Amino acid sequence: MRCDVITLFPEFIRQSVEIGVVGRARERGLLQVECWNPRDYASGNYRRVDERPFGGGPGMLMLIEPLRACIAAARAAGEAAPLVYLTPQGERLTQAVVRELAALPRLLLLCGRYEGIDERLIAAAVDREISIGDYVLSGGEPGAAVLIDAIGRLQDGALNDAQSALQDSFEDGLLDCPHYTRSESLGTAGVPDVLLSGDHAAIARWRRQQSLGRTWLRRPDLLARMALGKEDRALLQAFMADWKAARSAADGH
Ligand code: ADE
Repeated sequence: MRCDVITLFPEFIRQSVEIGVVGRARERGLLQVECWNPRDYASGNYRRVDERPFGGGPGMLMLIEPLRACIAAARAAGEAAPLVYLTPQGERLTQAVVRELAALPRLLLLCGRYEGIDERLIAAAVDREISIGDYVLSGGEPGAAVLIDAIGRLQDGALNDAQSALQDSFEDGLLDCPHYTRSESLGTAGVPDVLLSGDHAAIARWRRQQSLGRTWLRRPDLLARMALGKEDRALLQAFMADWKAARSAADGH
């Protein structure tokens, strides 16, 4: 897959795709990331890329012409691809959206700076607006880096253990279960017995129950959107009963 990022801060993007799983995906030729800087398409001695908004008010907008030329150059450098604008006004990024985008051969990512981008350019050129959360960043670059990371690790062959992507939080709409590993200093203290039992069916059941229970405790909004099967409902009910009993015991009644 190829991602072309339109950004006034290409170094931010380049550095963020150097390391870890995304860095490895690039080395393996599974992911290509190219940056395009609107400043390279600006005219005049100062290569200006910002302009005051009509109607006044604080802040500046990105100047349309360099941005438009930059987008056109990026588009022309490869096959047709949707242009995604990173903005707090966009739809919230979820694992489902990540999966959808990760399946595309190419993606153009537009990072805003200053107060944003002229609405007419958004209407004419942008295919999708995406927000990485309900907070305001100083630019779209961290959002693009988040998106590239989430997409990059889903490319076939990017993860060493393909199974681990399936186990992730949100892949099936639930949070991940807790994990434990060997520790010289801690031994097996605090590790649930079932994980040491070697009973794989019981372990799978326990993990599913923990996923359901954690989602119920921490993200009931996710659970409310799911239609649980009979087995899941039974696992969750047992988790809830245990949790309530433990809380009553701790409260001393
Ligand atoms: N740019 C500024 N804030 C953002 C956010 N929350 N998500 C994506 N891009 C942004």
